[in-house]
Formats: sequence, C-alpha cells, structure tokens
Amino acid sequence: ATERTLSIIKPDAVAKNAIGEIIARFEKAGLKVVAAKMVHLSEEKAGGFYAEHKERPFFKDLVGFMTSGPVVVQVLEGEGAIAKNRDLMGATNPKEAAPGTIRADFAETIDANAVHGSDSPESAEREISYFFGNDEICPR
Ligand code: CMP
Repeated sequence: ATERTLSIIKPDAVAKNAIGEIIARFEKAGLKVVAAKMVHLSEEKAGGFYAEHKERPFFKDLVGFMTSGPVVVQVLEGEGAIAKNRDLMGATNPKEAAPGTIRADFAETIDANAVHGSDSPESAEREISYFFGNDEICPR
C-alpha cells in the first residue's frame, strides 16, 4: 500500500553537504518527497520528538547532537515507504549497516548516523504530524 514516512537528514549529513545525495537515493528508490523543510531544532523540539527514548542513557547526547546544527525533515511517500526507507538507511549503527546503505556510506557512529526514519505506521503518523501540518504536505 502507499504509505508515508518521516525522514530526517541529521546534522552530520547536512554538515557533510550530503543532502542532495541522500534525497537522490530516496527518489531513485521510487519514494517521493511530499513535504520538506530545513530547521535548527530547539532542545524542546528534539526532546519531544525522541520522547520514547527519554529514559535511555544516550538521550542527553542524542538531543545535544540533534540540536548541534540544522536538519532537513521530509515526508516521503510511496509503496511500502516505511520499510523501503529503513532498507535504504541500513542498521542504526553504521558499523552494522549493509554496504551501499545511507548509514554505511555517510556515517561512522551510532550517535551521528546521518538519517532517521519512522519505524512503524504508528510512529510515522506521530512523527509526520509532529513536524508538518496537513497544509504543508503536497500529495502528488
Ligand atoms: P534514530 O533512528 O534517530 O533514533 C534514536 C537515535 O538514538 C538513533 O537513531 C541513534 O542515532 C541514537 N542512539 C545512540 N545510541 C543508541 C543506542 N544504543 N541504541 C539506539 N539508538 C541509539
């Protein structure tokens, strides 16, 4: 089925000037960008986004990293978009990511791992509405 998923190009990949190369991978895989914006997240916005990780030992570093520079937040649409995006990204830890995946090619550490993608339909719905109003999404 056609799905939507939230993708974030993280501060490390933005700093590497890899925005275009990463979005090209989504497009070449048949995913369409139906919403996009560049933002420098506040601590509050980043902490709220990752609220499910609040009790994890890496939470403080995660919020610190995600607020260290601008990110590019997008909604990707396509057949099986959630799983497709996760396949393109590779494992959370770049050291375990399959060759040719975004994290294998653009990231070195689990903290600065280039991209985020929603992990389920429920999180996709929450994450998309956390960043975008309906009037900011352009179905096509
Ligand atoms: P992301 O998919 O954005 O979701 C939470 C992020 O926390 C994850 O990517 C990693 O960048 C970061 N993180 C740091 N340490 C860990 C860990 N041990 N397990 C999972 N995620 C981690």
